[in-house]
Amino acid sequence: MTADDPKGFDLAHLLAERGGERYDLHARHLNHQLPRMLRTIGFDKVYERAEGAYFWDADGQDYLDMLAGFGVMGVGRHHPVVRKALHDVLDAQLADLTRFDCPPLPGLLAEKLLAHAPHLDRVFFGNSGTEAVETALKFARYATGRPRILYCEHAFHGLTAGSLSVNGEEGFRDGFAPLLPDTAIPLGDLGRLERELERGDVAGFVVEPVQGKGVHEAPPGFLRAAQELLHRHKALLIADEVQTGIGRTGDFFAYRHERDVEPDLVCVAKALSGGYVPVGATLGKDWIFKKVYSSMDRVLVHSASFGSNAQAMAAGLAVLAVMEEERLVENARTTGDLLRSKLAALVDRYELLHEVRGRGLMVGIEFGRPRSLALRSRWTMLQAARKGLFAQMVVVPLLRRHRILTQVSGDHLEVIKLIPPLIIGEPEVDRFVKAFTAVMDEAHNGGGLMWDFGRTLVKQAVGSR
Ligand SMILES: Cc1ncc(COP(=O)(O)O)c(C=O)c1O
Repeated sequence: MTADDPKGFDLAHLLAERGGERYDLHARHLNHQLPRMLRTIGFDKVYERAEGAYFWDADGQDYLDMLAGFGVMGVGRHHPVVRKALHDVLDAQLADLTRFDCPPLPGLLAEKLLAHAPHLDRVFFGNSGTEAVETALKFARYATGRPRILYCEHAFHGLTAGSLSVNGEEGFRDGFAPLLPDTAIPLGDLGRLERELERGDVAGFVVEPVQGKGVHEAPPGFLRAAQELLHRHKALLIADEVQTGIGRTGDFFAYRHERDVEPDLVCVAKALSGGYVPVGATLGKDWIFKKVYSSMDRVLVHSASFGSNAQAMAAGLAVLAVMEEERLVENARTTGDLLRSKLAALVDRYELLHEVRGRGLMVGIEFGRPRSLALRSRWTMLQAARKGLFAQMVVVPLLRRHRILTQVSGDHLEVIKLIPPLIIGEPEVDRFVKAFTAVMDEAHNGGGLMWDFGRTLVKQAVGSR
């Protein structure tokens, strides 16, 4: 096989020959519960192509993507600028990953990222969100010489062992102990934070400025006050901006919505990838990095084989250029405001719809107990089987009937989370609101199909106990 005659491996041929086996291959060789779950809720589709905020199935039908690959598709799918950067970097045949030189792209990307956090000085590049968090946890422990990390109830920071230690859901942690020494506090509880800090063993407090699970924002003033307490007790503030960062909430970093918040470490990943090349970045203060890398002997004390690779760096630089050129931070703010205000206007119309919240294009839609008797008995039936089934009942017709992909914002939650690509505009907002209204109409008018599906979910939930 040569570059001129690459037939030894022919991707198009392979996909044409074997693409049809995709669900069976997953069932046989990967996590078998994924195809099982997708078949159960009728999500077992075959998508052929994607662009921007849409993908298409084999029949050429378009689907609106309100999930953005769990947030990685910030600039949309296959953005031409990011694609070109990746083609260019491959064609350049750089001497990448020699590991004993200083290539230019990581330095340039670090410079660009730090311009958005002027109080920070240095960046470590890894390969995922959880790795960015692991880095922050290690750096905080080393820099302070203390073992314990504080985090918030219901927090999500990734699923490797360190990040799992600061995960606020028992369901994720069960069976994986022992983890790192840690303690959860309720989001916003300064009294509890202070009591934990007084024990003198806390390295840092890791927090999502807007929690992914349930879309809960830190209360106004909390981050600033937490920072003060932490610094008074010589502990660090770690902002996990893996989901909220790179513009998602209508500012480049979500911690900036509050004045004078200057985290010691900031974790970034997801959207920086352009949806192509996994990447994680931990931004931090000079003194922290200087402590960790305190001598030449320690140059590799925290490193990653693929960290700073040219493809990831090129994608990151292209993403930041697109964000600026297309003013996507601003778009996240204005389009997010529009989406939330249109949805909030429906709260009075539908008794099952309780609240619309969030920031920028990170939107939570919460359902709750209805007032009227007829609806209440149906709601109670669902709740008795399993919390979160109603939200699932909404997500399913949104995809199956309206071709819009959304997700329930965590297990046992009656909340749908919308994290679309930051490029969406009024047409996508209108399409979503129209579809959501139709689904809500059906739920409130006792529409047969939807509640029939609810009963199917109840049977499954009860059956799986
Ligand atoms: C806030 C937050 N931190 C960390 C992570 C972990 O990122 P990754 O899946 O890239 O490891 C996620 C992923 O959803 C996240 O939302």
